[in-house]
Amino acid sequence: MIDQATIDRIMDAAQIVDVVSEFVTLRKRGVNYIGLCPFHNEKTPSFSVSPSKGVCKCFSCGKGGNVVHFIMEHEQLSYYEALKWLAKKYNIEIKERELTDEEKQAHSLRESLFVVNQFASEYFQNILYNNIDGQRIGMTYLRGRGFRDDIIKKFQLGYSTDNHDALARAALQKGYKEEFLVKTGLCYRKEDGTLRDRFWGRVIFPVHTISGKVVAFGGRVLSAATKNVQMKYVNSPESEIYHKSRELYGIYFAKQAIVRQDRCFLVEGYTDVISMHQSGIENVVASSGTALTSEQIRLIHRFTNNITVLYDGDGAGIKASIRGIDMLLEEGMNVKVCLLPDGDDPDSFARKHNATDYQAYINDHEVDFIRFKTDLLMEEAGKDPIKRASLISSIVKSISVIPDAIVRSVYIRECSQLLQMEEKVLIEATAKLIEQAREAKFKEQQRKKEREQRLTATPQASVPESSPEAQTNETPAADSTSETGNAPFPSEPAPFPTEPYTSYIPSEGNEQKVFYAKEEDLVRMLIRYGEKVMCYVENETGEQIPFTVTECIASGLKEDELQFYDPLHRLVLQECEAHLNDPNFNPERYFIAHPDPAVSKLAVDLVSDRYQLSKYHSKGQKIVSDEERLYELVPRLLLDFKLSIVEEEMKHTIQALANPEIANDPQRCLEIMKRYKELQETQSVMAQHAGDRVVLKL
Ligand code: CTP
Ligand code: MN
Repeated sequence: MIDQATIDRIMDAAQIVDVVSEFVTLRKRGVNYIGLCPFHNEKTPSFSVSPSKGVCKCFSCGKGGNVVHFIMEHEQLSYYEALKWLAKKYNIEIKERELTDEEKQAHSLRESLFVVNQFASEYFQNILYNNIDGQRIGMTYLRGRGFRDDIIKKFQLGYSTDNHDALARAALQKGYKEEFLVKTGLCYRKEDGTLRDRFWGRVIFPVHTISGKVVAFGGRVLSAATKNVQMKYVNSPESEIYHKSRELYGIYFAKQAIVRQDRCFLVEGYTDVISMHQSGIENVVASSGTALTSEQIRLIHRFTNNITVLYDGDGAGIKASIRGIDMLLEEGMNVKVCLLPDGDDPDSFARKHNATDYQAYINDHEVDFIRFKTDLLMEEAGKDPIKRASLISSIVKSISVIPDAIVRSVYIRECSQLLQMEEKVLIEATAKLIEQAREAKFKEQQRKKEREQRLTATPQASVPESSPEAQTNETPAADSTSETGNAPFPSEPAPFPTEPYTSYIPSEGNEQKVFYAKEEDLVRMLIRYGEKVMCYVENETGEQIPFTVTECIASGLKEDELQFYDPLHRLVLQECEAHLNDPNFNPERYFIAHPDPAVSKLAVDLVSDRYQLSKYHSKGQKIVSDEERLYELVPRLLLDFKLSIVEEEMKHTIQALANPEIANDPQRCLEIMKRYKELQETQSVMAQHAGDRVVLKL
């Protein structure tokens, strides 16, 4: 963990224009800068950078944020990695939070393993370029395969000579510990205790993590001396840092292209990835010969929804890998399959075609996975009814794992045509499988719960104070709204309503509701002007005390026992309140540089010029900015927010009456109607305060 002081230093040092300029040519326009958006292809610039606010935003695709977001998005890094990236650029030493002894040990072991791998990677490259055998054997092999020098360099390919302990000796001599050489799997101990290299007489393919660290190696045999070796590839074993199932070969070099193209190609091997890069197709990763895992799929899913699997023309291995594709569907990916011409694999095809032709071939020949599977299995099943039945159930199985119902129904329609079967039958079969899977999952969860319960001695049921349900179900009490239209006074929170009442406003998925937008208006005020004094109010002793926007909003919500619906919004208000006594608090700067990326992203969105409230004409026709009229603007937004909740509540009350279960229960009907009347009264009181506001008639 990076400590807050360091984050502050990084945020202070990193100038947005400076950072963005590394990747985008910026021109000054007014107080801002503009350039071509690096996140989508465009001809006219819509990427705007505001040095004063420290934010950037594309007004076409919407991407952007503060410096950290920009680097996260552009370099496809995590928040933590992006901070490190910036720290490096500005020579800021990173102070990490004190780690516990255990954390330290785990941490430093992992770091040490990466350091040793980095050393080995450089060692193997050095051999390739500077050793006679490296040149004569290794380089000759790589060039002979058609790899260009720049590509060999980019993928950091290397060579290890026939010597069985050259790396071990070189590493020990440089002071790298034997323990780490063994733990990375670069070396192993023989029975007599001596160290031996795992890789020798092979060309070396380093495997990089998503952030570019060398996590493992693959070594390919080549020379006559090792011709009768069984294994074409020797790979690093699993280690504290390397879990084969979590890495994808090429992801580090592909991630930006995957984002830009919004699509990822999946191939089998190292050489496929490298050749495709060389031909100009960079959005490609390899599963390294094994079945895809869900971790690998999620790695791709971070960057795109669309994946195209490329298969050799001869089709060997297709059937075996088909099961793996169901997992792609399960993760919600759009999966397509492309068969290369007979006799070609992605590697050989790349050597014969340039990027444009390659892309064109794929575009012409890729088909969605369900269609591909159907065709493939149909051909095999022929007219055999039993085989056909099992084919159909296998396809239905694939469709049933797709999470999106609309996508499922599209596939079902397509399949019913391909298989010449009634859609209804397929729909029923799919539904049955989904139900079965749901039951299985439920049972699994039950089992898990039971296991956990057995483990914890006395489980305590408690509702956390800040649980969203506890807050979202509060409704404005009818009698406490009467003052909201006046200059607001900080007041005691109203007592809880005596009769508990269940709101009909659903607590989740409220984003599209009117009150939600109004809530956002208030949060925008908090972020832009939270610390500003809005007006002065008199206390009991007749003193005039300043009243800030934050205080106004906080007390305004409190007096009706309201809370914001969105947890992020609640957090913003909380933090504004926590800084009430801090004279240097600048909420805009604070939230834009907030350590929680979700919060800083929200701040950036809310302060972006595009959303700036328009300037108003006041009586004297002088243009007045929002800031000058906070004293009327904020209470009005507050009232708007409350009123829209009441209106929403009324709608839901009416809807509740239509529910047959309630309609047949005279007692509940009566209660709800009483509630509706109360709401109506509240609404009319509030509407009077809102002045010229037209009351929404239901
Ligand atoms: N693989 C492996 N061990 C093997 C064979 C294959 O780890 N004994 C993995 C490698 O990651 C390899 C991928 O499976 O890249 C695909 O195998 P293959 O197509 O045989 O290798 P290529 O990389 O295509 O190598 P080449 O074209 O040189 O034969
Ligand atoms: Mn190959």
